Amino acid sequence: MARSNPSILFVCLGNICRSPMAEGALRQAADAAGLALTIDSAGTSAYHIGSPPDGRAIRTAALHGANIAGLRGRQVAAADFERFDLILALDEANLADLRDRASADCRAEIALLMDCVPGRAGEAVADPYYGGEEGFEETWADVAAAAQALVKRFGG
Ligand code: 4NP
Repeated sequence: MARSNPSILFVCLGNICRSPMAEGALRQAADAAGLALTIDSAGTSAYHIGSPPDGRAIRTAALHGANIAGLRGRQVAAADFERFDLILALDEANLADLRDRASADCRAEIALLMDCVPGRAGEAVADPYYGGEEGFEETWADVAAAAQALVKRFGG
């Protein structure tokens, strides 16, 4: 039987800014590399369940060729810890929250997203929600760098 695709879940607080941008960046990079991955995103909070990404996130992703307008917010669920190979937190608070929720026999590897990027281990992807549009460009640069590193890791 064929092995299933590697599966990756991105997690931030609201699931309307950073993690949907990370999802869009990795979908784009994996497509470009011809790599089949299962990719999703979620929030630790319940603030934006069912909501589309923030308009600034949608516009910034579109400027870089990624369409994330169809994504909808959801909260991390217990089943995610069994379904995904890799769960990547966008900052330390999200990482701590994920570790609190994970059971001792959790299947997923849980890590900080920027740990994937050479020279950037331990760094957070700053929350752009309360700032201007330029913060979203910084977010895109970070998640695009991580997406490239993930494609390399999974063999694209
Ligand atoms: P995200 O950004 O975690 O990158 O989706 C935020 C979105 C919403 C809120 C905070 C951060 N909020 O407080 O509603």
